Amino acid sequence: MRKKSVQGMLAFSQRTQSLKKELGVFDLTMLGIGAIIGTGIFVLTGTGALIAGPGLMLSFVIGALACGFAALCYAEFASMLPVSGSTYTYAYATLGELIAWIIGWDLVLEYLLASSAVSVGWSGYFQNLLAGFGLTLPDALSAAYGARPGKATFFNLPAFAIAIGVTALLAFGIKESKRFNNVVVVIKVAVVLLFIALGVWHVKPANWHPVLPYGMTGVFHGAAIVFFSFLGFDAVTCAAEEVKNPERDIPRGVILSLSICSVLYVVVSAIMTGIVHFSGYAGVDHPVSKALEVAGLDWVAGVVNIGAIMGMTTVILVMTYGQTRIAFAMSRDGLLPKVFSEVNPKYQTPYKATWLIGAAIAALAGFVPLGTLAELVNIGTLAAFSLIAIAVIVLRKQQPDLPRKFHCPAVPWIPGLAVVFCVFLMGQLGALTWLCFVAWLLIGLVVYFGYSRKRAVLANEAA
Ligand code: ALA
Repeated sequence: MRKKSVQGMLAFSQRTQSLKKELGVFDLTMLGIGAIIGTGIFVLTGTGALIAGPGLMLSFVIGALACGFAALCYAEFASMLPVSGSTYTYAYATLGELIAWIIGWDLVLEYLLASSAVSVGWSGYFQNLLAGFGLTLPDALSAAYGARPGKATFFNLPAFAIAIGVTALLAFGIKESKRFNNVVVVIKVAVVLLFIALGVWHVKPANWHPVLPYGMTGVFHGAAIVFFSFLGFDAVTCAAEEVKNPERDIPRGVILSLSICSVLYVVVSAIMTGIVHFSGYAGVDHPVSKALEVAGLDWVAGVVNIGAIMGMTTVILVMTYGQTRIAFAMSRDGLLPKVFSEVNPKYQTPYKATWLIGAAIAALAGFVPLGTLAELVNIGTLAAFSLIAIAVIVLRKQQPDLPRKFHCPAVPWIPGLAVVFCVFLMGQLGALTWLCFVAWLLIGLVVYFGYSRKRAVLANEAA
């Protein structure tokens, strides 16, 4: 139940204002879209279409609602403590060490595994691009074992390689700059709009019948999968210390980026399932460009391939960066070994930690299929979001006087809805995913009680 002091953290952030405050709503929205649009829309739409049929559009609406409710809670949390870090830090100051630990441990599932998952998505488009030049990888090196039924796949070499490449960039201190991010976001949104503008003319409404081939069960299961597409909006909250007016702009940035992506996703999924009958996406790991190929728009498919590859690279960068910084914060608090917060004097980065984390991301990307990774990411994130939503309700009761520049509307109803949606979507995920999740939590508790509790900086300060 030990808590960091909110006042202390605010004072600390005011003392250490070394970061320039130059981001506004526009930049934050761009940052959010940069982290959000990626493997979810470019790859998982294919998986989702097989599960939900054309009802995938509804799955996206449900996913958007779950994220929207959670985002409003997130935004209240973020506006209380405009310091760098993420929900882990907020939870430590308000709910105590154990809950903060559990959230941080869940966030590993979100960030680390999402980096692996997006690397796998990247690989699908990269291989499609290579195929355009007549180059194909041997089956054994093209995907993880069991990823393509009927094919002797073993290891996803391109996914492994991109994860290592991004890790190297981060380890040597090359951070994604605002300008570079903005350029990639424009390209990403442009290829999505291009897909919509040109694809819409090739929709055959017959492909939309029946709309719900697997009923609402398919829609809900699909929603639990494509929930992945919305992740990343929390990246906006991590930039708090660099924002001119965080209390106003962060919630706006979160909500705006989420809304823009939601609209794009619903439209894209409608067009995709309209061009190709949903059953045509079986075994396809580049569904958006596949739809364009079927429509006879080969040149557009090529452009979309390049845009998707660039777009997914930035998602991997942001997610990997996020993971190293959360591990950094947990290590600085004494909850994880010191190696995670050691800064290399030459590169000014947590060099060893970046490589350790990057190696794990690359190995998982090489050996685990996308579907498995995405389900694990989703269950971990949904659990973290549920805890945050509960926290918003609890804190309104326990610490009503904490300054909140953004108030989540209709408390406890909106946080309540966030919990209901998140827990419901968790219930749609498979038994194996649940087993891995429970095992992960148990390992987390063993590490906490066996290692972190005694070594926490706060424990020693108290002593
Ligand atoms: N939302 C991110 C993606 O779809 C994680 O790639």
